[in-house]
Order: sequence, then structure tokens, then C-alpha cells
Amino acid sequence: MKTSDIRQKFLDFFASKGHQVVTSSPVVPGNDPTLLFTNAGMNQFKDVFLGFDKRPYTRATTAQKVVRAGGKHNDLENVGYTARHHTFFEMLGNFSFGDYFKRDAIHYAWEFLTNPAWLGLPREKLMVTVYATDDEAYAIWADEIGVPAGRIVRIGDNKGAPYASDNFWTMGDTGPCGPCTEIFYDHGDHIWGGPPGSAEEDGDRFIEIWNCVFMQFNRDEAGTMHPLPKPSVDTGMGLERISAIMQNGHSNYDIDLFQSLIRAAARETGTPFGMDVPSLKVIADHIRACSFIIADGVLPSNDGRGYVLRRIIRRAIRHGYKLGQKGLFFHRLVADLAREMGDAYPELRTRQGDIEDALRQEEVRFAETLEHGMALLESALEGGRDRLDGATLFKLYDTFGFPVDLTADICRERNIEADIEGFEREMDLQRERARAASSFKMTGNVDYNGPETRFRGYETHSTDARVLALYKGTEQVERLAAGDEGIVVLDNTPFYAEGGGQAGDPGELSIAGGVDALFDVHDTQKIQASVFGHRGRLARGELKVGDTVAATIDLHKRQATARNHSATHLLHAALRHVLGTHVTQKGSLVNAERTRFDFAHGEPVRAEEIAEIERVVNHVISANYPVSAALMPYDDAIRAGAMALFGEKYGDEVRVLKMGDFSTELCGGTHVTRTGDIGLFKIVAEGGVAAGVRRIEAVTGEGAVAVIQAQDSLIREMSVQLKAQSSGEITGKIGALQDSVKSLEKELSRLKAKLAASAGASLADSARDIGGVKVLAAELEGADNTALRETLDSLKAKLGSAAIVLASRADGKVSLVAGVTADVTKRIKAGELVNHVAGQVGGKGGGRPDMAQAGGTLPDNVPGALAGVYDWIASRL
Ligand code: ALA
Repeated sequence: MKTSDIRQKFLDFFASKGHQVVTSSPVVPGNDPTLLFTNAGMNQFKDVFLGFDKRPYTRATTAQKVVRAGGKHNDLENVGYTARHHTFFEMLGNFSFGDYFKRDAIHYAWEFLTNPAWLGLPREKLMVTVYATDDEAYAIWADEIGVPAGRIVRIGDNKGAPYASDNFWTMGDTGPCGPCTEIFYDHGDHIWGGPPGSAEEDGDRFIEIWNCVFMQFNRDEAGTMHPLPKPSVDTGMGLERISAIMQNGHSNYDIDLFQSLIRAAARETGTPFGMDVPSLKVIADHIRACSFIIADGVLPSNDGRGYVLRRIIRRAIRHGYKLGQKGLFFHRLVADLAREMGDAYPELRTRQGDIEDALRQEEVRFAETLEHGMALLESALEGGRDRLDGATLFKLYDTFGFPVDLTADICRERNIEADIEGFEREMDLQRERARAASSFKMTGNVDYNGPETRFRGYETHSTDARVLALYKGTEQVERLAAGDEGIVVLDNTPFYAEGGGQAGDPGELSIAGGVDALFDVHDTQKIQASVFGHRGRLARGELKVGDTVAATIDLHKRQATARNHSATHLLHAALRHVLGTHVTQKGSLVNAERTRFDFAHGEPVRAEEIAEIERVVNHVISANYPVSAALMPYDDAIRAGAMALFGEKYGDEVRVLKMGDFSTELCGGTHVTRTGDIGLFKIVAEGGVAAGVRRIEAVTGEGAVAVIQAQDSLIREMSVQLKAQSSGEITGKIGALQDSVKSLEKELSRLKAKLAASAGASLADSARDIGGVKVLAAELEGADNTALRETLDSLKAKLGSAAIVLASRADGKVSLVAGVTADVTKRIKAGELVNHVAGQVGGKGGGRPDMAQAGGTLPDNVPGALAGVYDWIASRL
């Protein structure tokens, strides 16, 4: 049975049981920052399980594209080494949203697997597991299905924490979850491995083929389990695994689909097909993940999803290199993949060119350094060592673009340990250097040696604080006198120091009571990583090191800044909604006046998209979601919302800022407490800043009201001037005005021509006779080109033998025409004549011997140039 037939049979089976067949969602989750890639069929139904979203059906079935690389479920390192792991695979699933529960889920699975009308697998080849305490599921298997007790295994919390179990499935660290029952297939005792729960369970003999999850809880960030509104079912069966069984193979790589891809990989790397070559499997696996990820809009980059993609591509290229293929080859497999899977996933066909381009570019980029990097690595590995040091790992990463897991992979093939910790230390040092460099720039040489500043601004806007250091300008001093400009360092402060795109807080430091002093803070900047410099001017009194001051931020400005900052997060999420998930942040600047957000997007944002983005953001504002911030370890944050992390500088603990379920970002900034506080959001500008980068500027709250009021008064003003009864009439009135301007212009040019013609008639009298030829050089005021030509023609007709130049001036430009009657053209050509004049008025022209035209840019020279015409002609006659 072909892989594509099994996919279809599965969907047909569940359709016959009243399930709606739903298309796979993209591998890049649309609106779930907790996920790096779609890692299960249930992702697209997450909100339905949680009760936030309703669908017109309560049963669904899908064949879902899944990527398990770089997220919570990460199989990248296993690919190529086992028979059953992939970076990309298809998950067949059936789902119940508060409809059927354990009984039907188990019966359906069993029927599809064992009934000869469907897959007809031998029952005795199957084993099942249940969660240790799930007696209900156990009883269904034992009593209703009739699975012998010896083939039902209870699995408890075998991963070292409550609910950390092979039989308790969670999508991520938060979200819907529940106990599960799994079905295993026994590939026979000729393959090494033991049943689930045994010491040899990691072998390839007993392979899990189907997981039925009984969705019962929503796990929150604190790990608390909240019961779901309705118990539900989420199942997943790996298509490649079940196909291996149905095609009498053992390894997923033996199925029809993979054999075609392995054959293609063999062809492109010049490797004989038919041998068991792990590198060919790696390439065949990786072309699928890479193509599907690119088809869904991700490009290789240095952070987030783009970096995972880059790692997979580079791993594939390196395996090609291992097989002796040192040229570009990987992108050529896209056509084979499109042929193989394009019927089920048409995006492979429609985006084939884009996928090939992206892969080829990445191949070119990596090829430039691969050879050198490999040479460095080979020499570092020479001489039978058993450990590769962190400095070399870092150099390969930093200089040659080898992702560290790629180098670790190469080490693993040769049984050499890679010093990952040493690599991390090198990375830290580099971050430190970068930070030192940037703080140097920021401080302008402020020396400081002393305790750090504790930031209190998340919880308060005013604190008492002790002055730790003072600077007059940038020179360290013991005291500041009234009028001095300088910097104050405090032991704790509510002032936010500029960072993460958010401007530093203004406000004041004051000493009340006996010694009255007031320091106006204009801006707050970090002078070291955790030392805040309050910059400003001492307005009155005196300030000494050791003084205690009341440090109070300008609350009004801070709130305005918070509104703009929170709105920036919503804007980011809305952009991804409306324009697509290729949108990633390229920079931002937030202050009390506005937010400026730069992001990757290849074309201008259209007016209707702007309107949609505004609608989405304002919708989330009026939903009034709570805004919460949680500190968590860096690693947990990656798992919870791995956007824009790679290559960034973060401490061990990061702050994750969440606005309802709409936006999750790492952020140290100050924010509103509920989205409703933002009040109103309005985009005021959109434009390009660099190739592929757009910029949006927006305002919120009072700022947005001010913008709208200004627009309103402009419209009112226009209504008054246009005498429109309502704003709706404005465009009509403008249209009418434009029409009348047009017809007036026409009328004007007609009148000008008429005027010029009559002027021309009187000009005939001023022609001079030079050797029998009537010569005329004159200016026709207000004439356009048509009028000039018409006048020229009538003068020629009137004067008999003649050579004529006419000029007019308007808006800093000169127009010239010259005409020579046929009998004179042997001696004087119109082109020469017009160019003689044009040359003196900064222009050039051309035409026939009897008629030529030219322009010019020096109107002031016209009278002189025309006056000289008579002598010039006289000299040539
Ligand atoms: N969501 C479950 C899994 O991925 C079915 O295993």
C-alpha cells in the first residue's frame, strides 16, 4: 500500500465516522509564539481545546505537516541514526472537541489498525501503554478490546517529575495536555529492542505508532493544571512509521516516498544507490523539512526559526560534502520532492522556484567557508584526540558559520567529545566584549567603580535613593552646584534606562526639607550594564555624593511610553497576522510620543493592510487582556517563545512579557497593566528604510486622539473651503474642481495661441531684409510650443524667402523654434540656426532643414542671443 494511499485511507476512515477533514496548517504556527514550529496535529486546534475558539464541527481529522527540530520536541540530532526519527514528518490525527472521549478514541484506533477493511494489522503484533493511574483506559483495552494483560503496560511519571511521563503528553511547557495511551508495533525479535517501559525500550524493535491523548488540562506557567472545559481527544500517528509497517519494511527510510528521495540524493551526490548510507537518509530527510519550512515563509537567518532552518540546511550540505559532493546540489532535490509530495501539498509546486532559490543561496554562502572550516576541523582533530576544545568550536561557528550542533555531529561520527561548555564560555566572552564596546560608546568615557543600581521601575514611580556618584559633564565630582549639567548615579531607581528600543525616563531628583535641591532628569542611560546614569541639570540647591534624594519619574511621560511600547508588541503580532510570519522585528524605537517599528517585509504595506492591522490591534486593545511579565530561565523562555533569540545578548534570566494569548515577547521594558490602557492605536506613517525592511510609525492613547483630531480639523477646514456640506462631499468637490481646472487650462492655451498668432502677424513688419532674405528673431511672450510653431508657419507664409527664430520663456525654461523657407535652406539650415541660439541659452535642439526646435535653461540670455541672430545670418548669406 503506497504512502499516499494510507494517508487517504486514514482520512476516509475518520470521515466515515463523522469527522470533518481539515487541511494541514502551515509548519510555521500563525499565532502561537510559544511554538517554534508546528509540532503536532493538535496545534491548529489549541484554542478549541482551551475553549477560546469554536468550530462548526466537534470531530476533525487531519494529515498535518510537522517539524520537530529546535523546539520542545526536537529530533534533529537523531536523524540518520535511527530508523524512525525525522525533522519533518506527517502526523495523521483524529480529534474530538468535547464530543467522544476515551472509549471511542480507543475503539476507532483499533478498528482502523486491525480491521481487514482498513489496515488489517495482526492483533498479536500490537502492544499498548496507558498512564499508570488511568484505570479507565486500561479497562477499555483489557475488557472491551481484549488485549491480553501481558501486552498492556502502565507507565508512570518516568521522566523525573509529576506528569513528566511518556504517557502524559504536553504540547509545550504550557497549554493543553493530558494522559495518553500509545499503540506499539513489534517488528520482531530479529531487531534489537525491548517493550515500552523496559530497559531496552530505546531500541528499534517496538515502535510507537499511535498516540491517543486524552486532553483534560491546561497547564499554566506555574505548572498548575487547570481542567479543560470539556474533556477532548487528540491523536497522532506517524505516517512514515505506519507506511514502513504496511510496506513490510522496518525502517521509515524504506518506504516508497523516502526511497525516491534517497535515489535522488544518491544521484545528486554521485553515490551508488542501494547501499545503506546514513548521509543519504539525512539529506532525504532534510530536503523535506527545509522545503516545507521555506514554503511556509521562513528564510535562513541568524535567529529564531531562520537559524533552525540554516542549521538543517548546513547539516544536509555537510553530509553531501562527506559523500564527496563539493558543489551545489541540495536545491536540485526540490523538484524530486515536489513530484513526490506535490499532490498532497501543492505549495511545494507553487513555491518550488522560491525554495530552490533560497536553498541555492544558502549553499553558495556556506560553500565559501565549508572547505576552509573542514580543513581547520580536520587539523584540529588530527592525531587521535578524543576531545575538541571550545575555542575551535567557537572559531568554526564564528568564522566559518558551522552551527555548533553541526560540529558536534561531526565529532560524534568520530567518537570525539565536543566541549560544548567551553564553546558557551567563548560565546559569553564575545557577548561581554560586544557589551563593553557598546557601553563604551554610550557612556562617552564615564568612569565608574562601585555598586550597581537596583531598578525598581516595574513596581513604583518614586523611591528614596542614595547618590552613589556624581559627574559634572563626564568628570567625576563630589558635589554639583546649581546650574551644573551632569550625571547622577543612584543605588536604586524607578527610572528606566534606555534599552530594548525604549527611551530612558525623564523626571526629577529632589531633596526636600532643610536643604532644598532639585535635579531635572532629562534622560536615563546605562553607564554600565547595571549602573544607571541620570542625566540632566541641577536646577537649584546643591547635590553631594551620599545625599538621599526622592527620585520621581515623569509619570505622564512614562505612561505614554508604556502605551506606545505595549502597542509595539501588539503591532508586531498583528503584522505577522496580517502580512505573514516572515515579518520579523528589525529594530524599534519607543518614546512618549510614538513608536517606530522596523520589520522584514519585501514590499510596501498596502492601505487596506494598514487598516486591517489597525483594526486587529484596536480589537486586542478593547478586549482588555491582562499584561503579565514573568522571569524565567533563558532555556525555558526559548521553549516558551523562541522568537528573536539566537545571537541576542541575554542574561541567564529573561523576562517574558505576555498580552493575553495574542503576544509573547522577551522584553525588559515598562508596559501597561491591561491592553485596554493603550486606549487607541493609529498608524501615522509607513515607508521603506532598506532593501526588504519597512518602517511603521504609530501613536496611541492621547497621541492617537490628537492625530485623529488634527485630521478631523483638516477635513473640516477643507469642507469649509470647498463649501462641502459634509466630509462625504469633499472628494466630489475636488473632482469637480479638477475638471474645471482642466477645461480652463485648455481654454487658456487656445487663447494664448490666438494671441501669439496676432502678435506674430505684427512681427512680420519687424523682419529685416538681409541680402534678399527676410530675417526675424523675436520673442513671443506667453506662447507655448504649439503657439510658437503655428506663428512660425504663418510668418513663413507671409514673408516669402525667410529665416526666422522665435523664442518664449516660462518657469525658468526656454523654448525655441526656427524656420527657413525652402529656397534658403541651401545656405542656412533651420537646425544650425536654432542651435546657434540654443547654445547661448544652455540648450540643444534639432529638426529638419526647414524647421527645427530646441529648449534651453538660461532664460536671461534670450534677448542677447536673439539680437545676435542678424549678424550671424548676414555672415553666412
Ligand atoms: N499530540 C499527540 C502527539 O503529538 C498526539 O503525540
